Amino acid sequence: MRAGRGSRTAEHNALFRALESARPEGARLFGDPLARSFLTWPLWLVPWLAALPALGRLVPRLIDRRWPGVRSSVVARTRLIDDAIQASLREPIEQLIILGAGFDSRAYRLPGLHDVVVFEVDHPDTQARKRRVLRRVPGISAEYVRFVATDFNQRNLTSAMTAAGYCESARTFILWEGVTNYLTEDAVDATLRWCARAMPGSLLLFTYVHRDVLTRPDAFVGTRNLFAALEKAGEQLTFGLEPSRLPRFLDERGLSLERDVGAAEYRARYFGDAARAMRGHEFYRVALARVERPAA
Ligand SMILES: C[S@@+](CC[C@H](N)C(=O)[O-])C[C@H]1O[C@@H](n2cnc3c(N)ncnc32)[C@H](O)[C@@H]1O
Repeated sequence: MRAGRGSRTAEHNALFRALESARPEGARLFGDPLARSFLTWPLWLVPWLAALPALGRLVPRLIDRRWPGVRSSVVARTRLIDDAIQASLREPIEQLIILGAGFDSRAYRLPGLHDVVVFEVDHPDTQARKRRVLRRVPGISAEYVRFVATDFNQRNLTSAMTAAGYCESARTFILWEGVTNYLTEDAVDATLRWCARAMPGSLLLFTYVHRDVLTRPDAFVGTRNLFAALEKAGEQLTFGLEPSRLPRFLDERGLSLERDVGAAEYRARYFGDAARAMRGHEFYRVALARVERPAA
């Protein structure tokens, strides 16, 4: 990330969510009315252009041509994660922690979170910008959200989360979306070990990239333009995992894998037949794991 400014990739995700939210209610995968508020020049112009009748379909098509698969992958996984959080509320959960929250607006838009303590954890630069925007949006109260500013690469979460009132003995859903791929291996390891100290039965949903995209990017569709955009943003990919090794990797850290799906699968789930024409970003994966009981 560029020092002193919020994450650019978080803003890209907000753009894709804003575009999806502008589609008719019966056709879109979710509605995120806040997403647009986080966009700065020139990105704020894009949903505005997409709202013009002649450009409505063209804008997403142009994005998909230049950065294949990224938009559709973010949109489908946003819905997948919304559904996973909603399902977890039935367990029920008492705390929701959003690690590397960026411009995720779930704390403000998902129903059923009234009795859940929500934490948003992020890099200080991104979080400061988010909080500035939230203060300006009428009708949004962030008072019940506990904000924790930290750098995963510099510090582990223990003291910051304890100071924010996190309770290790309460059932928790931890979301870590779009972040591991920007961190060091040590930071991912330390954060997963911290997650595994949550109450047994708690859930961790995180995303990661297939390790091969770091060493053989040309083997994956659309990585040339994507990597150029990431370099410009100062947010290059630094960490990935081999999916076949994930169950063991998590088990060694006290977590048991429940599900691991790639972009092609979650796009097919939510876009149906239209997903057949979607290419790119297949290296992007969503994993759901559960905190294991400590060995007796
Ligand atoms: C691609 S964005 C994802 C944001 C959000 N979770 C989403 O899915 O839209 C990456 C997020 O990771 C955060 N991040 C990146 N490196 C970080 C670090 N070293 N410490 C803390 N947060 C970091 C950024 O601030 C940003 O919010």
